[in-house]
Amino acid sequence: MNCGGCHGRRLQGQALWQLRDQYEGRRAPPHDSTGHTWQHADEDLFHMTKYGHFAAAPPGLVSYMPAFEHALSDGDTVAVIAFIKSRWPIGIRASQAMLNPDFAGMPAGADKIEWTLPPNCTASFQRWGTIK
Ligand code: HEC
Repeated sequence: MNCGGCHGRRLQGQALWQLRDQYEGRRAPPHDSTGHTWQHADEDLFHMTKYGHFAAAPPGLVSYMPAFEHALSDGDTVAVIAFIKSRWPIGIRASQAMLNPDFAGMPAGADKIEWTLPPNCTASFQRWGTIK
């Protein structure tokens, strides 16, 4: 898969991807559950992969994510995104599915088996619990 060169062979992202310095936006973020890829709906992930930026990005914004418009067919793009999603734990998959129209992609049995919120949601919730 030609995403691994930047996003990491195990989708772990590039070192220091969270650092806010002059190289911010150049290091590829992880696609696994430690990143923020799952905080975007399927439609946005597709747009990002095809055009190299999110649909909501202001025109003229420089993005260091390459556009795969000519390298991947739409079907292959969907398959790559499906692969990324298949690596997420069920709580992340359920959270991401809530961003999709009709909750598309909700894992089967998400309402039956036990799962926890992604780590950062749990942290925000705990912080909210202490300041309220
Ligand atoms: C040349 C390096 C490079 C390659 C190759 C690459 N990416 Fe990226 N990607 C980036 C960078 C850098 C960003 C961060 C862009 C930003 O923050 O503006 C990014 C961001 C993304 C995002 C948005 C993640 C988020 O949470 O904001 C998605 C989705 C994504 N890439 C998918 C892919 C897929 C799928 C492939 C393979 C088909 C791929 N990328 C290949 C460098 C790359």
